[in-house]
Amino acid sequence: MTIKFPLATTSWDQNEYDALQRVITSNMFSMGSEVKEFEKQFAKYFGSKYAVMVNSGSSANLLMTGALFYTKNEKIHLRPGDEIIVPAVSWSTTYYPLSQYGLVQKFVDIDLYTLNYDLSALEDAITDQTRAIMIVNLLGNPNNFEKIKELIGTRNILLLEDNCESMGAKFQNKYTGTFGIMGTFSSFFSHHISTMEGGIVVTDDEELYHIMLSMRSHGWTRNLPIENKVTGIKSDDAFEESFNFVLPGYNLRPLEMSGALGLEQIKKLPTLIEGRRDNAKIIQKKLRNHPIFFLQEEIGESSWFGFALVLRPNKNISRKRLISELNLIGFEVRPIVAGNFTNNPVMAHIPHRVHGKLENADYIDKNGLFIGNHHYKIDEAIDALAQIQF
Ligand SMILES: Cc1ncc(COP(=O)(O)O)c(C=O)c1O
Repeated sequence: MTIKFPLATTSWDQNEYDALQRVITSNMFSMGSEVKEFEKQFAKYFGSKYAVMVNSGSSANLLMTGALFYTKNEKIHLRPGDEIIVPAVSWSTTYYPLSQYGLVQKFVDIDLYTLNYDLSALEDAITDQTRAIMIVNLLGNPNNFEKIKELIGTRNILLLEDNCESMGAKFQNKYTGTFGIMGTFSSFFSHHISTMEGGIVVTDDEELYHIMLSMRSHGWTRNLPIENKVTGIKSDDAFEESFNFVLPGYNLRPLEMSGALGLEQIKKLPTLIEGRRDNAKIIQKKLRNHPIFFLQEEIGESSWFGFALVLRPNKNISRKRLISELNLIGFEVRPIVAGNFTNNPVMAHIPHRVHGKLENADYIDKNGLFIGNHHYKIDEAIDALAQIQF
């Protein structure tokens, strides 16, 4: 197959190559001032107090989860055995850190059209056992946070956001990724901005921020401010503080080049998102009532990671056939994230419960796929899609 309509393309130009060169010339490749400046600008852009850059969105999810096990704030402290609600459709590394820290995941069905939580299933799944809800904004689409907050009411339930697919999306004029106590982003190649590999956690909570600064780098104190929420006051003895380990952490640091790339990419983010939204307007206009498949229903302002196509029921057309027709005209296609994740063999290693039937997740697992969206016009791809004959 010749790929004419790829899933992902670069948004780099000479500015990104100059940024890489800036780091090469500085001869300082490990995490430093470029990463720090990127974090500052990222937090400002999204209206968060703090941002911590790591080497992937998966690492961001790991750090976000880990931080909740070492907070001194009892209101948000999680412990092994606590229950967290998760949507049945997401990426593998949404789930892995949760089980690695001993949380029990309760899988809840998604809505067939928005591809985010089925809100009545979510309502039904929340009990006195629920300590946290993982919100995943799928393929750029925000969740209905107003409704979710209503469902939680006055209960002490933490909201965490895996926003790795939805940078730049908004709900009621607020960026997704900033609704929970922490939110994660990915800047992997195929995402809205690309540092090739990369991830970010944002939060407004100073203690969680300090915990993450330590856990990102070996669990040491070196990257903490003198006055900090992990150790109180650091000593002024640089030798003693250079190898002082206070939390069981990792090495999740990004390269300095990733920070430099991020600084260039975030300047472009508004236009990158605008391009994707323009394409969405056209595809919605031309294909909303397609007889064979339906499109994802937008909540708020999606940042349109890609375009999900789900076969309409009773059409007697298999997904295999749709895929081969799409391949024939040059479309690269993928399943809708990991489909119904509970169908994967890895579930044998993940302590979990399934809430009710995951019928919609199963439906898209068998009948859904997605094609790429880009920051530039994709009219030719949309027209080719509209012309497919069955
Ligand atoms: C929902 C979700 N979470 C986490 C990740 C992991 O991000 P990364 O590929 O940067 O590790 C992805 C990957 O695309 C994702 O789709």
